[in-house]
Amino acid sequence: MKKLIVSIVFSTLCFASWNASAEDKPIDPAAGKTLYETYCFMCHDRGLSHAPRPGEKGDWAKLLPLGEDTLYTSIIDGPNHMYSKGISPIWSEWQLKSMIRYLTSTVTDASTQAQIGSASEADKAQHLRLMHGRKLYEQACFKCHNYGDLGAPQLGNAEAWAARKDKGIDTLVKTVIDGKAHMYAHGGSNSLSTEEFKMMTEYMLSTLEEGWVSPQQNGQ
Ligand code: HEC
Ligand code: HEC
Repeated sequence: MKKLIVSIVFSTLCFASWNASAEDKPIDPAAGKTLYETYCFMCHDRGLSHAPRPGEKGDWAKLLPLGEDTLYTSIIDGPNHMYSKGISPIWSEWQLKSMIRYLTSTVTDASTQAQIGSASEADKAQHLRLMHGRKLYEQACFKCHNYGDLGAPQLGNAEAWAARKDKGIDTLVKTVIDGKAHMYAHGGSNSLSTEEFKMMTEYMLSTLEEGWVSPQQNGQ
């Protein structure tokens, strides 16, 4: 028993010191650059599927105000990184934040420095909500809605949503939960909650805003 207690105390101490050293290590954009150039460049350098490109201020205009912590939460949630889902979980917080610091440093100068993290908490939370909605959408709804198959209103297609979007979010979500025409009840995903259907629908509506890039424009 004594042995057991000693070993529990010992491993707790080891874990605590490992944890402390991980947290203490300062974020390092130079290390982030090396990691980025190995693991992230293939999408981000050429802006694949709207991935923000290093050095392109326009790509980061909406992202800089979100700040490092929100971007970090966004990418570990994985909505934009469905293709690299297998990669994300292995990164440490330090590595990811160093990569994010590198990326934001490529578009930060005296005029943009103050923008970093300047968005309101509500805007940061809304961004994460939409990104989570996007992730779920890409798992559950894209098959019909990306291309407008089976009469589904197509993602980002203003005309297809014109008669629908003013119904209000709750009515739209109710249609999804009840099902309609070729859309099964719950869009075919019975395990998701009403709140999750709302996030997916909010994401779908957000694609009607200017500046959204459709999957077709990206050659997908
Ligand atoms: C398979 C392609 C791909 C790879 C690999 C990839 N990304 Fe991305 N990334 C994207 C796409 C696409 C978006 C933006 C989508 C959007 O605007 O909704 C994105 C967005 C981001 C964002 C902004 C997140 C947000 O909330 O809008 C950050 C930060 C980011 N990526 C960092 C990284 C880092 C760090 C790596 C390497 C570990 C990486 N990405 C690897 C495709 C990729
Ligand atoms: C099998 C194909 C299919 C899948 C999968 C699917 N939908 Fe649909 N969806 C449709 C069709 C078809 C319509 C048009 C129904 C009508 O109005 O006749 C539609 C309509 C909608 C509408 C508009 C509802 C309204 O009141 O006008 C929303 C919002 C929507 N879908 C969201 C979703 C979400 C969220 C998912 C994923 C959970 C999803 N759909 C999955 C086919 C699909």
